[in-house]
Amino acid sequence: MYPISRHSPRLHLRELHPGDAEGLFAIYGDARATEHMSFDPRTRDDVDAIVARSITSAALDPRQEYALAVTDNGDGRLIGFGRLALDPHQPRAATFGFALRPDTWGNGYGTETVRLLLASAFEDLGLHRVWGALPAEHRLRPDHATRRAHRGGPHPRARPSRGPMAGLGDPLHPRPRVLRNSISELT
Ligand SMILES: CC(C)(COP(=O)(O)OP(=O)(O)OC[C@H]1O[C@@H](n2cnc3c(N)ncnc32)[C@H](O)[C@@H]1OP(=O)(O)O)[C@@H](O)C(=O)NCCC(=O)NCCS
Repeated sequence: MYPISRHSPRLHLRELHPGDAEGLFAIYGDARATEHMSFDPRTRDDVDAIVARSITSAALDPRQEYALAVTDNGDGRLIGFGRLALDPHQPRAATFGFALRPDTWGNGYGTETVRLLLASAFEDLGLHRVWGALPAEHRLRPDHATRRAHRGGPHPRARPSRGPMAGLGDPLHPRPRVLRNSISELT
């Protein structure tokens, strides 16, 4: 499917543009944002290549990867990056990952981003399963999960799942990691 375009109250999930490299570099080039991810901070050249490769992959048919920008509805600035990658081993399933610009953390944008990605996966792409992985440091405490539920709960199709799972790698160097915990606890 092309193009993906979804809005939440504050955010827009959309296709990547060539001009997004600078915004993505503010995330992938930042040591805080990549601290718990499977790769070291990227150089600007790396990020240019990721954006170019993502734009190329968006035009493939069938499309296997949805590398998407998350922008602010108000000023249009890129604040995040989300990725859905169709799972070649499971029909209608995908892995997903996301990262936001560190200076935006703590304002609920992460939750809003996950909801946008899941809504796009289930409603735009008609997938049956989306899964991801978090490093143990990201595991939400029960009180976090409870507060999340009181704010409206997860997407209707989101289900907590546990057990070892292969995590997402960087688009340039897919390096699956086996991790515990499910991203669905963030929703
Ligand atoms: C993970 C990330 C998207 C969270 O973004 P955010 O905008 O701060 O998230 P929210 O404001 O929606 O907060 C989500 C909740 O998760 C909690 N949380 C956020 N990061 C956490 C962490 N590392 N460990 C435990 N809880 C965490 C927050 O406390 C918040 O709960 P609360 O409101 O009850 O206190 C952001 O920190 C990020 O981009 N990290 C780097 C990339 C990454 O690790 N991505 C996930 C793996 S693919």
